[in-house]
Amino acid sequence: MQVAILSGSVFGTADMVADEAVSVCSSAGLNVVRVKPATVDALLASQPESLLVCTSTTGMGELPDSFMPFYLELQSRFPLLTKIPFGVIALGDSAYGDTFCQGGELMRELLLELQAEEVLPMLRLDASESVTPEVDAQPWLEQWVNTLTQRA
Ligand SMILES: Cc1cc2nc3c(=O)[nH]c(=O)nc-3n(C[C@H](O)[C@H](O)[C@H](O)COP(=O)(O)O)c2cc1C
Repeated sequence: MQVAILSGSVFGTADMVADEAVSVCSSAGLNVVRVKPATVDALLASQPESLLVCTSTTGMGELPDSFMPFYLELQSRFPLLTKIPFGVIALGDSAYGDTFCQGGELMRELLLELQAEEVLPMLRLDASESVTPEVDAQPWLEQWVNTLTQRA
């Protein structure tokens, strides 16, 4: 199965989690395309059969500046991703209160609008709780991969 992995990051933490996802998925025998930088053309060209987005939140609940053009392009071109299984790993900090992991939530809502299918509830990684998000993501990633391989 072809998995497209994208990340949106300010300081590189979400990129690091996405790189961990690449190794977990590759080790499980999935065919990984790391879509970086993220553009809609690059995503569609990768002919994804599943999709993983890792993104942090910045500002007051916004997506990273480097990821925002991708989000806006996806929203305006609106390529349907009907029934494509997806997962989102959201990085944030609960100290930000109401906007905790809002960037991941924005991506998740857009992917649902595009008719993709969320196969595992979004993982929220809290910078107030842990400084090893790439390690903390591993059990979720393994579960996500299991879900995909069972469907294939
Ligand atoms: C200026 C700034 C604003 C932030 N705003 C939020 C926010 O609104 N909500 C949230 O959950 N986390 C927020 N964060 C926390 C980051 O999302 C978190 O530290 C994340 O791990 C950073 O990942 P990155 O290195 O991939 O950007 C903010 C961090 C900074 C520096």
